[in-house]
Amino acid sequence: MGEGAPLRTDRLVLTPLAVADAGEMVEVLSASELYTFTGGAPPDLEQLEERYRAQVAGPATGDEVWHNWIVRLADSGTAVGFVQATVTRDAADVAWVIGAPHQNGGLAREAAAAMVLWLAGQGVSRFSARIHPRHIASQRVAAAIGLKPTGQIDEDGEVVWELSPVQSSG
Ligand SMILES: CC(C)(COP(=O)(O)OP(=O)(O)OC[C@H]1O[C@@H](n2cnc3c(N)ncnc32)[C@H](O)[C@@H]1OP(=O)(O)O)[C@@H](O)C(=O)NCCC(=O)NCCS
Repeated sequence: MGEGAPLRTDRLVLTPLAVADAGEMVEVLSASELYTFTGGAPPDLEQLEERYRAQVAGPATGDEVWHNWIVRLADSGTAVGFVQATVTRDAADVAWVIGAPHQNGGLAREAAAAMVLWLAGQGVSRFSARIHPRHIASQRVAAAIGLKPTGQIDEDGEVVWELSPVQSSG
């Protein structure tokens, strides 16, 4: 599954993650409220570089592929967040983060939609996300790309949302 070209939308360009993005992203990820529903804390530069090195290197096992994109404003190139997907064969588990100053302007929806469209073009037909039951903004993003909540709760207490190929009743 090749990657490398940026994904473009009306307002955004999604660039495949590079370790050098850490410098810019430390600031984007610096607000403590970004971690309200996911846990964790703002990373420092060293931690983020280490995380990005691991993400760029990819998983140790052969049946999983990791995709990470920095979400940038198309006009200025300014980094505003990231989207990511863990792909196993035809299934992708997806996630999104938009920095606090840029939230509530539809950027997460726009970035997530571009990612899903690209993945679908690569043969991914099943999508999932794990979302805290009180995280309305992330639920809205998931709904916007067609995901629906399942009854399933994962090991972290998050609700599993899914979009699966439409089954023909025949
Ligand atoms: C979830 C997140 C990515 C949404 O980013 P965003 O760019 O603000 O989202 P959008 O502007 O595309 O808005 C999506 C929807 O959420 C709604 N929304 C945005 N912020 C909201 C808030 N604080 N409370 C309630 N709804 C909110 C928007 O009105 C929009 O609703 P609509 O689709 O009905 O119009 C962002 O809040 C974030 O990064 N949070 C921290 C990281 C995180 O928790 N990621 C998700 C892990 S599952």
